[in-house]
Amino acid sequence: MTPSILIVAAERGLGLGLARQFFARGWHVTGTARRGADVAELRAIGDTDPRRLAVATIDVTRPEEIPDFLATLGERRFDVAFLNAGIWGAMHQSAVQATAEEVSDIMMTNAFGPIRLAHHLVDHLVADHPTLAFMTSHRGSTTLNEEGGLELYRASKAALNMLARGMHARHRALGLTVLSIHPGWARTAMGTLDGAVEPEIELEPSVRGVADVVERHRGSALNRYLDYRDTPLPW
Ligand SMILES: NC(=O)c1ccc[n+]([C@@H]2O[C@H](COP(=O)([O-])OP(=O)(O)OC[C@H]3O[C@@H](n4cnc5c(N)ncnc54)[C@H](OP(=O)(O)O)[C@@H]3O)[C@@H](O)[C@H]2O)c1
Repeated sequence: MTPSILIVAAERGLGLGLARQFFARGWHVTGTARRGADVAELRAIGDTDPRRLAVATIDVTRPEEIPDFLATLGERRFDVAFLNAGIWGAMHQSAVQATAEEVSDIMMTNAFGPIRLAHHLVDHLVADHPTLAFMTSHRGSTTLNEEGGLELYRASKAALNMLARGMHARHRALGLTVLSIHPGWARTAMGTLDGAVEPEIELEPSVRGVADVVERHRGSALNRYLDYRDTPLPW
């Protein structure tokens, strides 16, 4: 049976790389983008086998889009739903300077939006080994935050980790696996701050590692916080 994955935010960056990885590994891939985004690269992944690639539309901050989005998924049941959408947030990253709008934007995009959507997706996962994965960051670790700074981004990913852990507890009876995965500091628009800084790793080793982690831990029924090398991170 061909395994299937839904990747939310898959038309550029890590999401596009993950879509390529899973497609190359023989999975059926449904990738999403926001309305009006350029999905040419995402669609091109399916050129060699169009039956294994689907494209859907969702903005994780817009709950009014959820019913139509779920309807386009139809009867398909996913082995894994991977919530990848995220933003860096205001460049100042300061809790002192942040406006209510800046706090709302980053919290809704990085934490509450993905979690809300994930709750709706539980019924669209396979029944016997349902798995949710969230693209988090080591910046979301309270324990690892020795140096401070990056307050908006850290707070949003810490919130994502907390809410993901709560989802696991709520759906424990279903045997839901919930993976919170740090992809490393990788070469994307976000990872380079649009070309201003050098990341630690290229995109391909990052998404290869993330895909390995998903394949290794899916269906375990556990809640894990891991990096792309499968190293456990402290909460
Ligand atoms: N790169 C790194 O070093 C790194 C490290 C740790 C964690 N991460 C996490 O990895 C994930 C992907 O980041 P990336 O590095 O690939 O960044 P990216 O190249 O900036 O891509 C971000 C993706 O998120 C999507 N997105 C943003 N807001 C959205 C919304 N409201 N609804 C749906 N999709 C939305 C973007 O869609 P549009 O094209 O429509 O904007 C794009 O597909 C993020 O969650 C990020 O926090 C990245």
